[in-house]
Amino acid sequence: MSSLIIEGGNKLNGEVVVSGSKNAALPILATAILNPNKVTFYNVPDIEDVRTTLLILKSLGCQIDRKCDKIAICSEKMRKTEIPNELMKKARSTVILAGALIGRYNKATFYIPGGCNIGKRPIDIHLEAFKELGIDVNYDKNKIECNAKKIHSNKIYLKIPSVGATENIILASIFVNGTTYIHNAAMEPEIKDLATCLNKMGAKIYGAGTNKIVIVGVKKLYSTSYRIMPDRIEAGTYLAAAAITKGKIKLVNVNVLDMMEVLYKFKQIGCKISFNNNEIKLEAGRKLKNTNIITNPYPGFPTDLQSIISAVLTKSEGRSIIIETIFENRFEYCKELKKMGAKIELLDKNKIKITGNSDLIGTEVESTDLRGDASIIVAALAAKGKTKISGTKNLERGYENIDQKLNNIGAKVKFVNNY
Ligand code: EPZ
Repeated sequence: MSSLIIEGGNKLNGEVVVSGSKNAALPILATAILNPNKVTFYNVPDIEDVRTTLLILKSLGCQIDRKCDKIAICSEKMRKTEIPNELMKKARSTVILAGALIGRYNKATFYIPGGCNIGKRPIDIHLEAFKELGIDVNYDKNKIECNAKKIHSNKIYLKIPSVGATENIILASIFVNGTTYIHNAAMEPEIKDLATCLNKMGAKIYGAGTNKIVIVGVKKLYSTSYRIMPDRIEAGTYLAAAAITKGKIKLVNVNVLDMMEVLYKFKQIGCKISFNNNEIKLEAGRKLKNTNIITNPYPGFPTDLQSIISAVLTKSEGRSIIIETIFENRFEYCKELKKMGAKIELLDKNKIKITGNSDLIGTEVESTDLRGDASIIVAALAAKGKTKISGTKNLERGYENIDQKLNNIGAKVKFVNNY
């Protein structure tokens, strides 16, 4: 097991190039299953979840050629339709590959996916949507088999605007004869990126980025190349790191319009923000102010940045209330921040109170989940002394070169192997 050591107290100052988006890359890599021609993706982050997805694609029979952030995939000779259980367990996003297999072969065998332990995370909405497309869904313990003689179009209403279910329906219905409608679809920018990529291949998807998506079936997809959107959650993490250390940062390779609610919150807590299309500058105010946050589906404040901005608020003035509305178990990191001296009180299952001006002291803490660990890093950057996070698997799943990126702007962070 490896650990991350962070020596706090250094002001961050400089430029960070934001990587390609994890949550856009994973469904976009799945499009290679639908398209038997060679497809090339750029700006693919080098993170564990991408490596897991590539291993699955390889196990299904895809040919993959990777050079830095460029990945070329050809699924022409692919014939298998079962996703191995041991790889499914490694990430939640593996479930998206099911929609792509169904889209191409009318069948898929897969297992209950893994992923961060942040709530129950059932896949009932995905499976209900498959059924509405005429697919037989059979379960045997954690194994799920989907089969259809013919997939038919339908009008599907999602009881929750699930990001993954929206992606799965899009992937499964690309070749359907007819028009599929998704009502109450997720509106996240990553869905728009998936649709833009598929449309570049020849699909006909309208309305992605709104809550009503229309998919007009096409006969085939064509060879193409596509550049994956920047990671808005990684971008928010570096803004938080600069804010808590009273630093100054310039982010390049960002989509500013995808981050307006997040930028608004950083302004509200006293940071000076300026931007153009693909750059954001943040200069922390002399004093950070408190704020209240309610997470919501896009365009609301993202649940994936909830823990990260909470870390910043432990050093602000006054009291902040944070309400998490997307996942039932996304406050695990609070226990670890409290070990460092943060004043956080759990008011309810989904509500915390942060009392600012905490004296954070570096100590030994445990890894909780991907964004929980990012929150600990942010707090540790402003803490006195050294913080050691035991277990870095979660971080490696979602942040590309986080140690180098932070060290380049003045932090002291290093991965160490405990064995
Ligand atoms: C995606 O997860 C992201 N993951 C998550 O990012 C992100 O937190 C989440 O969307 C919300 O924005 C990827 O894109 C790979 P959902 P997803 O289906 O698709 C419930 C990160 O840190 N639900 O929109 O799994 C579910 O339990 C991560 O990068 C059902 O009840 O999220 C949750 O409460 C973690 N039944 C809510 O809906 C279902 O069938 C939203 O989940 C599906 C979901």
